Amino acid sequence: MKITITFAALLACLPMVAQEKAVIDLQPQKDTWRIEKEIYGHFAEHLGTCIYGGLWVGPDSPIPNTQGYRNDVLDALKKLQIPVLRWPGGCFADEYHWRDGIGPRQLRPKMINTHWGGTVEDNSFGTHEFLNLCELLDCEPYVSVNLGSGTVEEIADWVEYMTSPADSPLANLRRENGRDKPWKVKYLGVGNESWGCGGNMRPEFYADLYRRYATYCRNFGDNRLFKVAVGPSDFDVNWTEVMMERIGWRMNGLSVHFYTVYDWNAKGSATKFTPDDYYWTLGKCMDIDNVIKSHSAIMDRTDPEKQIALMVDEWGAWWDEEPGTVRGHLYQQNTMRDAFVAALSLMVFHRHADRVKMANIAQLANVLQAMVLTRDDKMVLTPTYHVFEMFKVHQGAFHVPMDVKTSDIVTEENKVIQTVYATASVNEEGVMHISLANVSLDRSYEVTIHLNGAECRDISGRILTSARITDYNDFDHPDTVRPVSFTGVKHGENSLILTIPAKSIIALEF
Ligand code: AHR
Repeated sequence: MKITITFAALLACLPMVAQEKAVIDLQPQKDTWRIEKEIYGHFAEHLGTCIYGGLWVGPDSPIPNTQGYRNDVLDALKKLQIPVLRWPGGCFADEYHWRDGIGPRQLRPKMINTHWGGTVEDNSFGTHEFLNLCELLDCEPYVSVNLGSGTVEEIADWVEYMTSPADSPLANLRRENGRDKPWKVKYLGVGNESWGCGGNMRPEFYADLYRRYATYCRNFGDNRLFKVAVGPSDFDVNWTEVMMERIGWRMNGLSVHFYTVYDWNAKGSATKFTPDDYYWTLGKCMDIDNVIKSHSAIMDRTDPEKQIALMVDEWGAWWDEEPGTVRGHLYQQNTMRDAFVAALSLMVFHRHADRVKMANIAQLANVLQAMVLTRDDKMVLTPTYHVFEMFKVHQGAFHVPMDVKTSDIVTEENKVIQTVYATASVNEEGVMHISLANVSLDRSYEVTIHLNGAECRDISGRILTSARITDYNDFDHPDTVRPVSFTGVKHGENSLILTIPAKSIIALEF
């Protein structure tokens, strides 16, 4: 059973039943950094119905679409102001051959998606469909190239095909396929999980391959590539040591993957869980903080100026697939618990945004901790979507350091989590946003925010909560979990006071 150590009770010697309190001290004068908008990045893999059905239905579909992209999903994603989208994988990237996905769709060869359920991939969504989608969403593309089973020549050609303005055979092939102007492709991932599904390599071997493959990924015209090397999973610090030593400045970013997963062989239900399971999940999710600290410490040794970015280009909660869905398609529901995984993880990324320059939640539609779920012509927004929508105001803003005093919860595995988490930022127009989460299932908290010089006018807020932590949105009940207006903020002297209900997430603007 979890134990709560109350800050308020310790502080004021009040009985446990008294109103719990939390105190936030904003420190707007402290040195800070920008929360790069790419921290709110996404990931769409050829996996299950993420692309086919989720994003892409083709121009001839009866489902309302724009050039083949579903309108409902496009509208929902535009509201999120997606900054960057990673594609085509994931594990799929290391068996993807880009030439299969260009030219007339009816002539494109099929393949078997061996990683994800043995599904037939008809390649109708390829380079043009992806890069045009990024233009429609006004986001940066992040292309993961095939280092596991592809050749150096193949990926060098792909970069040229996408980005060259020249009168060259590859750029002209792109023109024949309907695109005259080169696309801008900034982010290039050189392989994916090369220690696992991307080739089961040892770090030294991968580092050498990276150096070779990356050499031939050229900057054409005014396109400038930002090259991302495959990084570690979880706490594999040796991988990071080897990458820093053997690749060093040859990479612009090093990726890291971290999933909130219980046990790879028994991940547990997305919707049926106990309060202890819930607190366990938050404890596990907060491990991301230590993961980032461990890898950053190694990077700091040879890169104290933080020139090489850490990119958390896969993260999120991973549960058992929903009963009755296709095995290997990773379709899972998404509850208020997932909303907390999203909120807490984003807060951690803000705190480390001096080193963490991108994060991509897995995945965009119908796979893992998705933004949207679709079935035929229906779509629902998940609780995780609502967190991304409420928090999008932090994109590109300056992180405001803070000190938070609140109660702790000790989980069954002796992990300590806070009851109240918060993050704040100020944007270039001087607007401050504070996002708060009360993870307690049964206690509300009176939160005092000391502004310490930050001016406060025109305050508004929204709250995301639900009757049960297991609540989710489905096609019959699409609005069970959705944000509503929050007006309960009072002004104190140079402070704000509000009561944050149990299991709720609040976003304030002033
Ligand atoms: O996101 C699902 C899979 O998880 C990705 O394909 C892979 O990179 C990771 O193991």
